[in-house]
This record gives sequence, C-alpha cells and structure tokens, in this order.
Amino acid sequence: MTEAAALARQTNDLDAFWLPFTPNRAFKRGPRLIARAKDMHYFTPDGRAVIDGLAGLWCSNAGHNRDPIVAAIQRQAAKLDYAPAFQFAHAGAFELASRIAGLAPADLNRVFFCNSGSEAVDTALKIALAYHNVRGEGARTRLIGRERGYHGVGFGGISVGGLVNNRKFFGSLLTGVDHLPATYSREHQAFARGEPEWGAHLADDLERIVTLHDASTIAAVIVEPMAGSTGVLAPPKGYLERLRAICDKHGILLIFDEVITGFGRLGHAFAAERYGVTPDLICFAKGVTSGAVPMGGVIAREGVYEAFMRGPEHVIELFHGYTYSAHPLACAAGIAALDLYRDENLFERARKLEPLVADAAMALKGTPNVLDIRAVGVAAGIDLASRPGAVGKRAYEVMEHAFGEENLLIRVSGDTLAIAPPLIVSEAQIAEIFEKVGRAIRAVV
Ligand SMILES: Cc1ncc(COP(=O)(O)O)c(C=O)c1O
Repeated sequence: MTEAAALARQTNDLDAFWLPFTPNRAFKRGPRLIARAKDMHYFTPDGRAVIDGLAGLWCSNAGHNRDPIVAAIQRQAAKLDYAPAFQFAHAGAFELASRIAGLAPADLNRVFFCNSGSEAVDTALKIALAYHNVRGEGARTRLIGRERGYHGVGFGGISVGGLVNNRKFFGSLLTGVDHLPATYSREHQAFARGEPEWGAHLADDLERIVTLHDASTIAAVIVEPMAGSTGVLAPPKGYLERLRAICDKHGILLIFDEVITGFGRLGHAFAAERYGVTPDLICFAKGVTSGAVPMGGVIAREGVYEAFMRGPEHVIELFHGYTYSAHPLACAAGIAALDLYRDENLFERARKLEPLVADAAMALKGTPNVLDIRAVGVAAGIDLASRPGAVGKRAYEVMEHAFGEENLLIRVSGDTLAIAPPLIVSEAQIAEIFEKVGRAIRAVV
C-alpha cells in the first residue's frame, strides 16, 4: 500500500473514534457526517445543506461560523495561545467575566471559568459545599437535585441528575444526594405553551426533604430553570419562586443550571431574569461562546464570593480550577459572541420568535404518534409514542430520516424530539423546520 493510500485509509477509518452518547454500531453503519457550517446550516461532505434545528447541541445561539467570532479566535490564536490561570491571568479573562457579570441579574457578579457544562456543575456544587464549610456550617453536605434533571456527566452532575441511564451504570455516585420530583405531568400539562399552570406545589416537596434530613445538613438545591435535555420542560408558574422561598427559609443555596437557558434561549440573558428569581449560583456553558470554543463557568452572588475572602491573603481561597480555565481562545470567542448577541439584539429577537415557534410546534398536534408538544422560548419538545419493547427507536428513526431525507438536524432523547434552532433563525426557517419535523414523523411508522 502506498503511503498516500495508507493515510487515506486511516482518515476514512471510523473504528477509532468512540462517539459519545451515540449508538456506535448503528452510527458506523450509516454515519451522519458534517463537513462545514455557516449561519443556519450545516453542510455534509457531499455538499448537502442541512438546516440546524438544534443550534448544534443547544450552543450555537448566534448561528455558525459567524465572521466576528471566527476573526476574534484567529486574532487571539496569533497573539496569545495559552496563559495559565492559576496565579496568572490575561486581559480577556477579566473582560469576559465583567461582561457576563453585567448580563447576570442582581449581585451575581463573580465569575469562575471552566470548560464545559459538566465542569460548571461540579464547580457550583463544590463552591456550595465549601461556602458552608468556610462559614462554619460544614455539616451542610447534602445536595438536592431533581428527577429528570440533566447536569452533565461528571460524578457530581450524574448524582444530582435524574436520568436513569446516565446513573445506573456508574456505581454508587455521590452520597448524601436526594431528589425533588420532576415537574412534568402529561395529565395536567399537555400541549403547554410556555410555563404550565399546574405544578407550582411540587416545589413544596423540598419542605418534605428538609423535614427528613434537617436543613442543617443540606448545602444546595440544583435545578435547570427549564429542563432542556429531558425534553423541554418549562417550570410551572410560581414553581421557581417557591423553591427560592424555601431555600431562603432554610439557609440552602439555590443553583440554576443555565447551561442551555443561558444566553438567550428563553429570550433573556438568563432564565433567572425571565422568571424574576435570583439564584445564588448560575452554571453556564454552551452559548457563552456560541459553541465556537469550549467554555463554561459559574456566576456567584457577591455574598458567596465574599464568604471565601477571609484568612491570610497569601492563602488560596478556593482549591479548585482547571488548566484551561479562562482559556484565551475561549475568552476571545466569548467576548465576540456577547458582542453579536448585543449588536443583533438576539435575546430580544428570541422573545419575538417565541410565539411563532409555539404556533409552528403546536401545528403538529394530531400528527400520528405525537403524544405531547411543549414550547418555551426558542425551544420545543415533542413526545412520540414509544414502540412496544423498543423505547427510543421511533424518535431515533425520525432523527435519521430528518437528517437523511429532510436535510434537518434535530435531537432525540428517548422518544422525545428536541428542536431549538440558533436565535438568528428566520420566520420562514421556523416554518421550514417544523414542516420537516412533521414530514419526518409521518414518514416513520
Ligand atoms: C443543563 C445542562 N447542564 C450541563 C450540561 C453538560 O454540559 P457539557 O456537555 O458541556 O458538559 C448540559 C448539556 O447539555 C445541560 O443541558
């Protein structure tokens, strides 16, 4: 074999890459390959334009390969490729932190950087535990998550998370974790636009958990304000307010995991603003760079940060961080993405698009096998009837059909379809996306 032929074979070999959250054998029999992207579209190696119905993976909120973000990354790579964030820093880190603090509500103004949503969740949980510890309440070690919650794949995130397949293979997880009930009830909420009327009382379950364990043992509650990965579950009206009130009453920190809802998905910089509820910590990732460079982080309220700023000044206050915290390329991409969100009014645009997304999604009511549709912000979830003994197969086939035959990228979780296009999506493209979804659902029996 010539050297060129060997190289060609190597680069075409699908064996070595173990794909995450993917049925590898099925994928490798019929790979869905993406070669490049621009704005609302992906392009396959053979040149098909595929409309992006999921902002990549809920992250490319400004669309793909936007010139200002590309240029900012290129400039930064040529100037400063890497600088350590332990004991040293570069200007971009301070600038991006200030910009994020400026977007966050109330006194959420201290930003700790990491590289992903999973790391953001672990960071927030660790800050919560350490916060109580440094204040002399070290017995507060319990963490409360929620059934159906998704908080990434670190041990912290899967422990507080509530998706069984992400948990059951991985041992005993963190100890001292409890879960609130999921907020979804098809019986009471089917075909809800925005926040369902029913379900605020489910927050009161936190009182039961406090009674069971005692508040003095509980450090934090973590929830997604809108649960995205499990299938777009908006919070019932009044639910988050009640959680906040119960946390306040018992000295428990409230963490919003805004990895999906941050940076415009619900029409605001953060869902905390949409709902008028101020958590103590916000986890972010994805949209902060519009997906262009990995980045995540945690925004802390002033008082949380200040609790650590005691003791001798030469001593590290929080023994936590990542080699790539505040990576220069991520900071450059983040600043450029925030500029784009501001200059193109993309959060406001998302608010204007919300009713159109809801109309287009709800038009699929009555399509065979559609059991429920939910829409909030620029996001929709569609539950399909599972095939007996083959949960997830129908939705997987719809996704395959959508990509192969309709030139549409969407996501599936179990038998739920998720649609959440970039916030630059046009009105015509919203119609196009949901028409394609409808055809794909009808094509799969
Ligand atoms: C709410 C939430 N938290 C955490 C994560 C994990 O983020 P990552 O995949 O960047 O680790 C996700 C990813 O979808 C998410 O939706």
